[in-house]
Amino acid sequence: MAREIGIGVVGAGAMGRGVVKQVLEQDARLKVRALFDPDPRSIAASRDLFGADLPADDSYEALLARKDIDWVMIASWNCFHKEQTVAAFKAGKHVFCQKPLAISFADCLEMQQAWKASGRQFVIGFTLRFSPHYRKLKELLEAGVVGKIVSFEFNETLGFNHGGYIMGDWRRLRQYAGTHLLEKCCHDIDLANWFVGSLPARVASFGGLDFFTPENEGYIAKLGKDSEGRPAFQTWGGLVMENPFTGDKDIVDNQVAILEYLNGVRATFHTNCNAGIPERRMYILGTEGAIRANVLTGEIETQRIGFDTKLKPVAACASGGHGGGDEILAKELAATMLDGAPPTVSLDAGLVSAGTCFAMDEATDTGRVVDVRPYWRQAGLLA
Ligand SMILES: NC(=O)c1ccc[n+]([C@@H]2O[C@H](COP(=O)([O-])OP(=O)(O)OC[C@H]3O[C@@H](n4cnc5c(N)ncnc54)[C@H](O)[C@@H]3O)[C@@H](O)[C@H]2O)c1
Repeated sequence: MAREIGIGVVGAGAMGRGVVKQVLEQDARLKVRALFDPDPRSIAASRDLFGADLPADDSYEALLARKDIDWVMIASWNCFHKEQTVAAFKAGKHVFCQKPLAISFADCLEMQQAWKASGRQFVIGFTLRFSPHYRKLKELLEAGVVGKIVSFEFNETLGFNHGGYIMGDWRRLRQYAGTHLLEKCCHDIDLANWFVGSLPARVASFGGLDFFTPENEGYIAKLGKDSEGRPAFQTWGGLVMENPFTGDKDIVDNQVAILEYLNGVRATFHTNCNAGIPERRMYILGTEGAIRANVLTGEIETQRIGFDTKLKPVAACASGGHGGGDEILAKELAATMLDGAPPTVSLDAGLVSAGTCFAMDEATDTGRVVDVRPYWRQAGLLA
């Protein structure tokens, strides 16, 4: 049997534990050897899952000093991704880091440089890239079902309990999470960039906090409780649970944006955290046809342009929030860990998604159309 691969976990909350558990299930040679998390609740939950004797280090630096760790899996708050990833590369480790890459573009560039200098592997937790639903969309686009992409709409609208979770959790503060667009919708922006196959050139955006405000707190009582007696907007139960209406926060709960790519493709994006009809939908139009898809239902439909064409449903590949991506991510990550199989999503994809979000939020904050090209020049992605 080939040698074992040691894993160290930095940030062992819901997602940290979830991904590590699925990775360990792939192959008995993958072993979790230590963790670092400042919250005793996450340490206790990890020991329940991975064994009562799992060592919990006092710092991530102590974990990185361990010789029996090859891969570090980072799922801490977004503001820590940069320092922990860079330190892991400097310690000679391979890194899996959750999305978004980091909360500033300078941090993304530092991570890119550290990764290149290290010669180590890096995998980003862009779960939806591994989803059969989105892989099917990419396959259809590459097969020319819409011809050349001209323009599209996409969205991520979240149900009220999901929205309430975001507005009450650490994600409600930019200093920990970055903006809502970065923290939640960096997946969607990454998918758009992947499908278009070009870099965003110009963006504009408007957003605000219009629902999760103190004067709307009465909606908690108005909607009542769920079947388990939990109040509306607070059924998700994160580690940090501020009142989603009255707690301090500096993120938006709705945002609409437009993007124009270097290759001329144009798109509109819409997110809202209090949706009566939650969607993660894409409607892509090209020179020869269109695709309409919603990962939450798994539906994909296509129609060619022409007098005798019909709307054609494509058999659903997967559905749900992550579109079946978690399991495949774990499988492919395990393969990368064990035999060095190159990851399908690079660090640069994380940088481009984050950079696009930073530019869109700059547009929201300043009310200006933002030229995104300087970002890509700084990253060496555009001459
Ligand atoms: N790929 C996906 O689809 C997906 C889904 C959800 C979350 N995420 C990402 O996973 C990460 C964690 O999110 P979550 O939902 O598990 O949140 P969570 O609140 O459940 O867990 C976060 C954990 O990080 C710990 N932490 C805080 N500061 C830390 C530090 N300095 N070093 C190490 N750990 C620290 C917290 O104590 C907590 O245990 C975030 O980056 C988030 O964006 C990704």
